[in-house]
Formats: sequence, structure tokens, C-alpha cells
Amino acid sequence: MISTGIVSLLLAAPSSATLLWATSYNDHTVTSLNLDKNSLTVLSKSLDCGSEPTWLTLDKPKSLLYCLNEGWGGAASITSYKTNNDGSLSALDVLPVLKSPVSSTLYGPNKGNLAVAHYDTSTFSSFTVRDPSDIALTGNVTYTLDKPGPDPNRQEVPHLHDAILDPTGRFIAVPDLGADLIRLFAIEGDAWKEIPPAQAVSGSGPRHGGFARLGGNTFFYTVNELSNTVTGYKVTYNADSTLSFKLLFDYSDHGEGGSVPAGTKAAELEISPDNRFVILSSRGENSLEIDNFDATNSTKIPSDPIISFRINPWNGALTLTQVAPAGGRNPRGFTLNKAGTLVASALQDDNRVVIYKRDVRSGKLGDLVAWATVGEGENNGPNYVIFNE
Ligand SMILES: *[C@@H]1O[C@H](CO)[C@@H](O)[C@H](O)[C@H]1NC(C)=O
Ligand SMILES: *[C@@H]1O[C@H](CO)[C@@H](O)[C@H](O)[C@H]1NC(C)=O
Repeated sequence: MISTGIVSLLLAAPSSATLLWATSYNDHTVTSLNLDKNSLTVLSKSLDCGSEPTWLTLDKPKSLLYCLNEGWGGAASITSYKTNNDGSLSALDVLPVLKSPVSSTLYGPNKGNLAVAHYDTSTFSSFTVRDPSDIALTGNVTYTLDKPGPDPNRQEVPHLHDAILDPTGRFIAVPDLGADLIRLFAIEGDAWKEIPPAQAVSGSGPRHGGFARLGGNTFFYTVNELSNTVTGYKVTYNADSTLSFKLLFDYSDHGEGGSVPAGTKAAELEISPDNRFVILSSRGENSLEIDNFDATNSTKIPSDPIISFRINPWNGALTLTQVAPAGGRNPRGFTLNKAGTLVASALQDDNRVVIYKRDVRSGKLGDLVAWATVGEGENNGPNYVIFNE
């Protein structure tokens, strides 16, 4: 009697399944995925994000998803989607925008605006998404350089690469890979205004960044694509609604004294949900070996790393805690679930999305949870993946 009761209780328990979405360049899709225990399955694919889907920004309370299309051929766009319970996506609007939007963040009252960093076109732009069926440009600023930076091939013009809302929701930080700056914007209602930028290390090429707020301190970290370093800053909020960034350190993204092989390009940076860890990915190293995802094949395969650092809450210093496999080659984007217990990684050169366990206390990635094939064709496959959380 009792055991029967337990069985029916288990059967009646709500499903633990979790939805994710991944963008992929080579099949031009946003792929909906279902994670159920150790299986990750493709539910559906949307072609409404144009030719080169990349960054995704979720507005979970409103069941809305924004997808940026880099538009390598020139036809860049933003697609707004309604997210459905079965994981599928219904396009609400597609707005043509300036070329190569690569990152976005929601901001302002009721998250009614989307700020976007454009790489090729050196532009920061904002859009109203108050009516997600009618996205409209509300402002923009385009930057120039007087002369190329220390890496003239990559720093010939400014290249805005990320847009990050600060923990107070009052500022947006935009790492500029071409100009070696963290461009800063103060939010004023639905609008924004430029405030003096923070200087990054010359020639470092800041790509992605994140704020960590710990014990009354605010720190900002960037991963730098050209120097393959990680930079730490202490952030001060000034009375005149500006920010000061004090440089704390800049060293190898494998930790102080570390090094990377030629051809390495640092990619993503995430702050753990508890703000205790900086986690970054590196591309083009293929320095780690992992089991083949084809269980019948005993040949190991190469993997790039995901690297974790513990943050010292008093001074913002980092301690290397782990260099773990990202699940294959070219982890351009990865994200954590809300609890910080899972890491989803998009492997651009392997047409694969992989999910690993993460121990919240130690910050270490652990066992493989699940994986799925995402993307179709050679290279340029999945480049970003997020949880529906
Ligand atoms: C900037 O915005 C104005 C309208 O506010 C628009 O006419 C112009 O095309 C935009 N420029 C860019 C570079 O997006
Ligand atoms: C086994 O995996 C290796 C590495 O991915 C691959 O080169 C090889 O073709 C695979 N062998 C078979 C029989 O699939």
C-alpha cells in the first residue's frame, strides 16, 4: 500500500525537464532543446532569426526571446519571439538593423528596451521592445578611431562586442575590442547617455565581460580576445552618475603566469549566479582530450577549455580553480543555469551542444550530463546556448 502510494506520487511528480535554445550559423537556426535527466533532444528549429543567428536575450517573465542575426552578407536583424511551452518559438517581429549585432541586454523600466553592440559597424544602438511585435530603433552612436590600435588587423576601427547591464540596472558596459575601452552608458528611463569610458589594457582587445557584486564591492572582469588575458577592475559608483574602473590586474586567462598556444582566441565570460566565480572559455587551443561522443568509438577527441576562477570578495583578485573541457572545439558561447549547477556549452566547430554538471560550492565543472547535435555542415555551427531560466 505504502510503496504503491510512493510510485504513484513519483509518476505524478512534475517533469524535471528544462528547455534551452541554441543559435547556429551553419544551418541558420535557433534550435529548441529539451533536457530531461541525461538526454538532450532537439524539439524544433526556427529559421526566423535570419542567416547568422547569434546572441539570445531572454525575458523570462514575459516569455519573450530576442535573437540577433549578424547578417554576414549585410542583412542583419533582430527577431522577437514568443516562447511556447513546447519549446517552439513564434516570431513576433523582425527588424532590419545595422550590420553585425553581436550582443544585447534588456534595460530600463519593465525591461522595455534592448541595447545592442555592433561589431563591424562600431555602433551602440537601442530599441524599444515595449511592444515586442513592433521593435523600433530609439538611438545609436557610432565610434571611430584616429589611428589603428596595437593590433592593426583587428583594431582598425572600434569593435563593440558585448552589452552588459550592471547590478543596479542603472548602467550598461560595452567592451570595445577595437578601441581597448569599456564604453559606459548611464540609463535615464528608457533613454541612455554616454559617460566617460574605462581604459582597457592596450592591445588586449576586450571581448566579453561581467559584473560581480560581493560583500559591498563591485568588480568587473573582461576576457580579452587579442591578448588572451583576463582583466579585473574595481568599480566605484560616483555621485554624478558616472563610474570609475580601477584596474586591478591583467594576466593570462589560464591564470597568472599561464600561456596559450598560437591561434588561441578567448571567447566567453560568465559570472556565476552567486557572484563567487569568473568562468571563461578559450578557442583554438584543443589542448584537452575527452571521450568520443560516439560511445562505440574509442578514439579520444580534442577539446578547448572552460576555465574557472574564484573571486576574492575583499579585493577582487582571482584564484584559478579549474581548467575543464568545454565539450569540443570552439566554445564561442556558454551559459549557466540559474542555480549554477549546470553549464551549457556551444561548440561551434563540432556541431554540438554539451551540458556539464557544476558544483556550486567548489565552482568546478563535473560529469557530462547530456549532449545533442546542433547545426549541420562544416564548421560555424552552434555559437550560443541559453537555458529557459
Ligand atoms: C541612427 O539612428 C537614426 C535615427 O535615430 C537613423 O536615421 C540612423 O540610420 C541610425 N544610424 C545608425 C548607424 O544606426
Ligand atoms: C572515431 O573518432 C575519430 C575522432 O573523431 C574519427 O576520426 C574516426 O573517423 C571515428 N571512427 C569511426 C569508425 O567512426
